[in-house]
Amino acid sequence: MNFGVCYYPEHWPEERWPLDAKLMRQAGITTVRIGEFSWSKLERREGEYSFEWLDRSLSILASEGIRVVLGTPTATPPKWIMDRHPEIYMRDNKGIVRGFGHRRHYCYNNPDYHVYVRSIVTKMAERYGSNESVIAWQIDNEFGCTDTTRCYCPNCSSAFQQWLEDKYTDIDNLNEQWGTVFWSQIYNAFSEIELPAYTVFPLHNPGMELDFRRFSSDSAVRFQKLQLDIIRSIAPGQPITHNMMGMFNEINDFDLSKELDFTSLDSYPNLMFADKPDPRNAALALDATRGFKQSNFWVMEHQSGPPGGNILFPTPRPGELRKWTYQSVAHGADAILYFRWRTCLFGAEQFWHGLLPHDGIPGRRYEEAARTGEELHRLLPLMEGIGSGAEVAIIRSYENEWIMEIQPQTFEHYYERQLKAYYRYFYNNRIPVDVVSDDCDFETYKLVVLPHYMMAKPGVAEKLERYTAAGGTVVLDIRSGTKLWNNRMDDTTLPGAFRELLGIRITDYGTLRKGESRRIEAADGKHIGQGTVWYDVINCVKAEPIAWYAEDYMAGTPAATRNAVGKGTAYYFGTGADPDCMLSLMGLVCESAGISPIAEVSAPEEVELARRADSAQRFIFAINHAGEEQSLQLAAPMRELISDRVLEGKAVIPAYGVYVFA
Ligand code: GLA
Repeated sequence: MNFGVCYYPEHWPEERWPLDAKLMRQAGITTVRIGEFSWSKLERREGEYSFEWLDRSLSILASEGIRVVLGTPTATPPKWIMDRHPEIYMRDNKGIVRGFGHRRHYCYNNPDYHVYVRSIVTKMAERYGSNESVIAWQIDNEFGCTDTTRCYCPNCSSAFQQWLEDKYTDIDNLNEQWGTVFWSQIYNAFSEIELPAYTVFPLHNPGMELDFRRFSSDSAVRFQKLQLDIIRSIAPGQPITHNMMGMFNEINDFDLSKELDFTSLDSYPNLMFADKPDPRNAALALDATRGFKQSNFWVMEHQSGPPGGNILFPTPRPGELRKWTYQSVAHGADAILYFRWRTCLFGAEQFWHGLLPHDGIPGRRYEEAARTGEELHRLLPLMEGIGSGAEVAIIRSYENEWIMEIQPQTFEHYYERQLKAYYRYFYNNRIPVDVVSDDCDFETYKLVVLPHYMMAKPGVAEKLERYTAAGGTVVLDIRSGTKLWNNRMDDTTLPGAFRELLGIRITDYGTLRKGESRRIEAADGKHIGQGTVWYDVINCVKAEPIAWYAEDYMAGTPAATRNAVGKGTAYYFGTGADPDCMLSLMGLVCESAGISPIAEVSAPEEVELARRADSAQRFIFAINHAGEEQSLQLAAPMRELISDRVLEGKAVIPAYGVYVFA
């Protein structure tokens, strides 16, 4: 089992390194990620390499039995490269250079940068490819971290033209797909096309905007591939990963993950701008990461202290570090590395606290990590590789998320909010879910939910029809099927490609302003909740209503419907269901689809219940996110693995406590 920290020996005097390694070993640390920002230290000037310090660090770590994940340092091209080739800098949509001083300041498509990247990655792979200390590689660092993906430089402009030519072949094909006849934008050659940069009004052709996002995401994937190919050719068999960021959305992480051996997440649950971190957000990021390759993953950076750039976020209370760690494990993490070992004395992250404080003396966070590590060394080997055993899939579609960013249609709503509305229902009702792409095998699930599936990807409607015909259950919702995969409106009556599956026609629709809602009722007139954001006026052609609007001009018409398709069912939610409405509608869906929640334990809402299960085994995690103890009720006696005792009936779980039942 890999348990460890992110470590920056270059930030500390060498005399300290042996003590660091010793303290790590005493805390049960087996694995360290290293090197990912160290380029100017490894190659101070062009061709002047100094790897000896890294060699020494690796051997000191090895002397304590600690192995490393080696990061390629390409997120931080040094100043000498940038001065020689200033065109490597990213440019914003006004063409302004995004200069030196932070990180990720490079353009993915710059050919000069590729030369330097090839050379440093080759050198590292040659030097460390067969080093026994190196157990895996991390490419770069956090591709797509906040506004570092879409670059508007001349290289990107010509790369985009080429990408479009490869995709459309003929310029009139592109003209047709984008609808460039609108506002006199017909192109005569791919070379005429400019990036969707700053114009008189921030509203470009939606087809172009979508393709630019696709191209930018592909650029990151290609940049990663450049490095993967080098490492694989020199050090075949070395596992390679990248540290992703859960719900960040600039890059399609399903694509980014395809070529990786395993995926990793950087997880900072306390880094929320709201007053109180919501454990459901952290859980979603974990489930999303498990979905990238539909397999378990590493947490490559796990929060270990108060995070902070210029402002400090809340300090994890005693016990919180441990319970966040268990939450990661509960959702499929097979390895945990804390960020970072010791809090740095300088640089932009002086306030980003690690396990050790600035003075380097082990304190309560170190002790808590050591205790957690001791437990995980016993527990994790029992469940390595075992996923959620989920019966429910939530489909995450980056492209549908992007088009709603480009044109949100409503003032307050966005794709992730809709996805979270479902996720919260399942979390609150103790139902494990997978968050996966529309390429996944639907047949492995009893229920497939597609939030805001606005653009119908070619083939997905037919795939859903086959799936429901064979007995599956599907939920689609507002705006589904309104667009084609090129971000043009569909001219078939709504819900477009899904109208036969859903057995309805949408005859009218409208937005609801922030704070506005419409009363939704069940067949018996009972108020089940409010419809928000949007309303569809639905004509049931074949489907039957399951909820009705009780206000406005559409009063008495269906707000949600159910259509029997072969052995299965397709549901449509025609308004933004508020939590009450979601509870009622999704309750009905889950009951008829035969979805079974975690029933072995009942717990108050502050206690998260999660599961790792396969056909042979299941582990149930109870995680108390509250600072006060809570009571659990066990349906039958169960062994609690951390304390190795059998609990039954009523069990008290301490503040921030964790139980793992088998
Ligand atoms: C990210 C990065 C790290 C570090 C931490 C804390 O997750 O990958 O290098 O910057 O955030 O800010």
